[in-house]
Amino acid sequence: MISTSTTPLELPPPDELESLIIELKQTRNAVILAHYYQESDIQDLADFIGDSLALAQQAKQTNADMIVFCGVHFMAETAKILNPKTTVVLPDLNAGCSLADACPADLFAHWLKKYPDHTVISYINCSAEVKALSDIICTSSNAVSIVKQIGDKPIVFAPDKHLGAFIAKQTNRDDIVMWQGSCIVHETFSEKRLLQCKTKYPTAKIIAHPECQQQILRHADYIASTTGLLNYVKESTEDAFIIATEAGILHKMRQEAPNKTLIPAPPEDETCACNLCPYMRLNTLEKLYLCMRDATPQIHINPDIQSQALLPIERMLEMSV
Ligand code: 13P
Ligand code: SF4
Repeated sequence: MISTSTTPLELPPPDELESLIIELKQTRNAVILAHYYQESDIQDLADFIGDSLALAQQAKQTNADMIVFCGVHFMAETAKILNPKTTVVLPDLNAGCSLADACPADLFAHWLKKYPDHTVISYINCSAEVKALSDIICTSSNAVSIVKQIGDKPIVFAPDKHLGAFIAKQTNRDDIVMWQGSCIVHETFSEKRLLQCKTKYPTAKIIAHPECQQQILRHADYIASTTGLLNYVKESTEDAFIIATEAGILHKMRQEAPNKTLIPAPPEDETCACNLCPYMRLNTLEKLYLCMRDATPQIHINPDIQSQALLPIERMLEMSV
């Protein structure tokens, strides 16, 4: 039986953490949902690993008493919006996202006043307050399809300017009004170094997440969400891939496509680990254990924001089937 009365300072030895987390899944009736950008030891303990859309769908349908969200704050918040009666814990509450930070709700609300007739489509990488101001949420896996389903109506897209530019190109729309946010991780890839890498591995396919800049995306053979990139590597008859997204996804790719050559796309600064998301990496095995043991930190959302944010997320889910 696991005691829940120990103080947060009393950590078990590191080699016991995994078995204690597995035990806590039972005693707490908890489900661990993890994003591909989490540390490999966390991914290996998860009940489900997915992209933002699949994680939201799992959060909505689970009967667990506790959702342990191994990802970043906006993902855990989305889980809570979709499943408000369930306790949602995040190992580190500071696990944010540069895209969500780039779009403060008060500025966004003020800016939207200029576009009263526009349909507001927001990327899921934003706060609950920004979701509450939106008409439809999208993820990288359904953004193009959702914009196509909107037809000719005028659109505001926030907060990712690079995903926005990708959508505009895919839908032949040059009239989409864009918020100018970006992801610090996907902006680190260097075109020059990518081309050097391609020279070294000439047969490798370049695959990229749509949060990358145009100078990276224009060289990509395939552009998709994290799950889309994983499936491409698994299903492709090619042997080698240069992967322009957060390097955490290589763990799952190596497990699911063990015989393929997987090359992380190089960041501008070859001495940095800037292709790792600093927010995702705040979650550790220790913090995962503690958040399950102590049922904290939990995600709490103002009930008005919760119900307003639910609507555009539900619209997205309906438009994604
Ligand atoms: P996916 O929805 O493609 O997993 O992307 C989430 C994300 O934060 C990418 O940086
Ligand atoms: Fe946000 Fe970028 Fe990290 Fe994804 S990789 S969570 S978009 S900062």
